[in-house]
Amino acid sequence: MRTRGFAIPTFSAVCLFCAAMLGAQASGPAVLTIHADRTASKVSPTLYGLMTEEINHSYDGGLYAELIRNNTFRADWSGVNDWILVERGDASAKISVDKTSGPSQALPYSLHVEVSQASAASPAGVLNGGYWGIPLRTNTTYHGSFYAKEDSADVGAVTASLVADQSGKVVASAVVSGIGTEWKQYTFTLKTGAIAESMGNHLVLTVAHPGSLWLQLVSLFPPTYRDRANGNRIDLMEKLAAMHPQFLRFPGGNYLEGDHLADWYDWKKMIGPRVDRPGHPSPWNYWSTDGLGLLEFFEWCEDLHMQPVLAVYAGYSLRHEHINPGGDLEPYVQAALDEIEYATGGSDTKWGAQRAADGHPQPFHITYVEIGNEDWFDTSGSYDKRYAQFYKAIKAKYPDLQLIATAPIKGMTADVLDEHYYLRATDFFHDATHYDKTDRNGPKIFVGEWATREGTPAPNMGAALGDAAWMTGMERNSDIIVMASYAPLLVNISPNAMQWDTDLIGYDALRSYGSPSYYAQVMFGSYIGDATPVSSADGAGPRFFYSVTEDSAKKRLFVKLVNASSDAQALDIKLPGAKLAPEGKLISLSGKDPEATNTIDQPTAVAPVESALHGVGESFHHRIPPYTIEVVEMEMR
Ligand code: AHR
Repeated sequence: MRTRGFAIPTFSAVCLFCAAMLGAQASGPAVLTIHADRTASKVSPTLYGLMTEEINHSYDGGLYAELIRNNTFRADWSGVNDWILVERGDASAKISVDKTSGPSQALPYSLHVEVSQASAASPAGVLNGGYWGIPLRTNTTYHGSFYAKEDSADVGAVTASLVADQSGKVVASAVVSGIGTEWKQYTFTLKTGAIAESMGNHLVLTVAHPGSLWLQLVSLFPPTYRDRANGNRIDLMEKLAAMHPQFLRFPGGNYLEGDHLADWYDWKKMIGPRVDRPGHPSPWNYWSTDGLGLLEFFEWCEDLHMQPVLAVYAGYSLRHEHINPGGDLEPYVQAALDEIEYATGGSDTKWGAQRAADGHPQPFHITYVEIGNEDWFDTSGSYDKRYAQFYKAIKAKYPDLQLIATAPIKGMTADVLDEHYYLRATDFFHDATHYDKTDRNGPKIFVGEWATREGTPAPNMGAALGDAAWMTGMERNSDIIVMASYAPLLVNISPNAMQWDTDLIGYDALRSYGSPSYYAQVMFGSYIGDATPVSSADGAGPRFFYSVTEDSAKKRLFVKLVNASSDAQALDIKLPGAKLAPEGKLISLSGKDPEATNTIDQPTAVAPVESALHGVGESFHHRIPPYTIEVVEMEMR
C-alpha cells in the first residue's frame, strides 16, 4: 500500500519450512526500493532536540555542576539537611539556622556556627557530602566560595578542605582569612594532586577559635563545559552534544507549572547573581536551587548550538488549579512578554538590559514559544481562553514567533500542537504509522515528550527498538512534525534520586552512561538529511521499520533500518538509477535480547558499532540481525 511516497511494510506469508531451513530469519528477503531522485517530503531541520526539566536531579545533582548539596542551609524537623557538625579533638560547637541574618533579600537567613571551644589542633565547623558524594579527579582545580560573617575578628580564618571519606585524608585545602563582621562573599580554590578519581569525598569548613561564624551559599565547582562560571558538567554535556540536538525545550514539563499556583516558574527569581535567587519547590518533591536558572538555559542552548524552545507559564498548576483568563491572568501574560524580551531584546530594552547586566549582551534568537504544559489536564476548560490571551499579546509584539499549544484549541488553529506519548515498545510498533494519516491542513506537530518506557532506571534494548520504530514514523512525517524530543532526558541513579524511571542518560556523582535508547537517539540525530525520497518496502516481517532521508548538499543517503524481531531480516535494497560509491558505512546497535542494557558499571554493553559496508550499488543484499537498529550511509555520485 502506497501512502504519500512511501509504503507501509506488508506482511508476507511466512514459509515455516524456509524459516527452518535458513535458521533464524523472519521472512524474506524483503525488498526495499528507494527512488533517490524523487522527493516525497521535506525533513524538518529542527526535527530532533532535547526536552528537559528539574526531575530525577537533572540539574541539582546532575547537569548543573555545583557540588555542594543544600548550599543554602534549608532545614526541616531533622535539622539542617545535608550538613553535619564537625568537632575535632576537644572542640565544641553547635549549629542552627539563624532566620534573622543573611546576605540578601532572597536568602535572608544563614547557618549559625557557634563555637565554644576550638584550636588549630581541634577545629570546629561543618561538613557537606555533596550530591551522593563529591567527585574528585587527579590534578584538578575546584573553585569554591561562600558568604560569611563573624562576630569578631578573633574567630579568624575559615579552612576549606576536601577530605576522602574512607581514609579521612585531606586531599586539598585552602585558608580563607580576613572574614569580617558584615556579609561578604569569599572565594577559594582547592587543587588535587595525583589522586585516584573517586566520589567518596566531602567538603569541610572549620575555624580554629571560639566565637560565631555565619555561612550562606557555600559553593564548589569542578571544571565545567566550555569553562563557564556557574556552568554544566562536562561528561553530560558531551553526551548531549553527541545527540546533535537542534533545540532545547525548557523549563518543563511539570517543572514549569509547579504543584500549586505559587510554585510556578517565576523566572525573575531565577536570574542574576545566585545570592539573589531564593530557589523554589520542584513538583518532583525536592527543592530547586535555581542555580541553573533562565540565563543558564539559554547559555546551554548556545553551547550546544540548539534553538531555545521557551515554555512560558500559562496559569495552570498540577493540582488542577488555574488562573482565570482576563484580568487575573494579565500579570502572567506580562511575565511571559518580559521573559521573551529578556531572551531576545536589545540592551536598549528593559529586560534585554537586564540580560546584558547578567552577563550576556547578545540577544538570543527564538522561533518557538510554548504556552503552558499538558493543559489537556485542565478539566475546567480554561485553556482555550488562556491560550488565546497569551497568543494575542505575544503575537502583537512578536508576530514572527510560532506559538505552541499544549492541547487542541477550540475556535482557532494553533501554530504548533505539542503531543506527548509514553508507551510500551509494542504500542510504538503498532503506532509507527500514526502520523501517516494526519491532516496536513491542521497545526504543525511538536512531539514534545515521548519515550518507550521499558527498563529502569534507563531504557533497555527493547525500548530502544520501540523508540527507533517510532522515530522512523516521525522522520517520514517530518513535513508536519517540526520537532520531537525524548523525555525524560537525565537521571541520577543514586539511592532515592529518581522520580520517573526510564530516562535516557544515567549518572552518579562521578560517572555517566547512555542507555540503548540514548544510542538510538545519537544514531537518528547524527544521520539525517533534509528530504525524504520516495520509497517502499515489501515482504518484510511485522517488526521491521525503516526510514530514508537524503542530504542533498552532502549527497548522502541515510537508510535507517529497525528489526525488532527475534529473527534476522533479509533485505534486498534497490535504488533504481542511483549512482553510488561502492562502499557505504554501517552503524549498528544490537542487543542479544530486548532486556539487554547498559549500566553505570557496564556503560557500553549495548553501543553502536561502525563498519564499512561493501558492495553498495543499484541493487544489493543486506541482512539485519535480530533486535537491531541500523543506519546505512551511502554516498551518491
Ligand atoms: O517527563 C515527565 C513528565 O511527563 C513531564 O514533566 C510532564 O510534562 C509529563 O507528564
